[in-house]
Amino acid sequence: MAIKTAPSFAYRHVAATDAAQPPLLLLHGTGGDENDLLPLGQMIAPGAALVSPRGKVLENGMPRFFRRLAEGVFDEADVVRRANELADFVLEAREQHGLAAPVAVGFSNGANIAAALLLLRPGVLAGAVLIRAMVPLGQPPAADLAGTPVLVLTGAMDPIIPEENAGRLAAQLAAAGAQVDHEVLPAGHNLTQVDIRLARDWLAKRRV
Ligand code: MLT
Repeated sequence: MAIKTAPSFAYRHVAATDAAQPPLLLLHGTGGDENDLLPLGQMIAPGAALVSPRGKVLENGMPRFFRRLAEGVFDEADVVRRANELADFVLEAREQHGLAAPVAVGFSNGANIAAALLLLRPGVLAGAVLIRAMVPLGQPPAADLAGTPVLVLTGAMDPIIPEENAGRLAAQLAAAGAQVDHEVLPAGHNLTQVDIRLARDWLAKRRV
């Protein structure tokens, strides 16, 4: 594993040991970094190539993937700009490492930027696992996500993300043609063992 700086993002890359697995794009939550989700990636898709960038926006020193005005209130112009930047990074990393289109695995803020990336740049991601995601854009762009598999994992007791909001995101993605599986877990905002099991089983079943 090496720390690399591509033109656009600091990130880590772990080479695949199982070529049959799609690469994962790991997107951390607020205050995380490029190291955070590497163990999760190894648990849910053993042997897959991992690409894990660090969000470039700092909120009181904590890395994120886009600016927010308050908890759950996003600077949508920044969401659009940063999602496009991240999409460009994915294309760079694919070229650099010879990778297929990745499946994003995002947690919280990382799940929100992954949802924005899906809607703004269809085709860049082969699919997505969105853990504790919410609607990133009030007016979603018209996107063609036909056949793109997406797993949305929501915590029924999440104090940050109302279940209704996560349901709206799942509906937006499905309306754009994505094949959406939405599971509501007896959990809060934090990642749980159930998330890990569901994500692993979903990836194995779909081989997306
Ligand atoms: C966000 O800002 O993306 C969400 O509120 C989740 C978080 O990062 O706390």
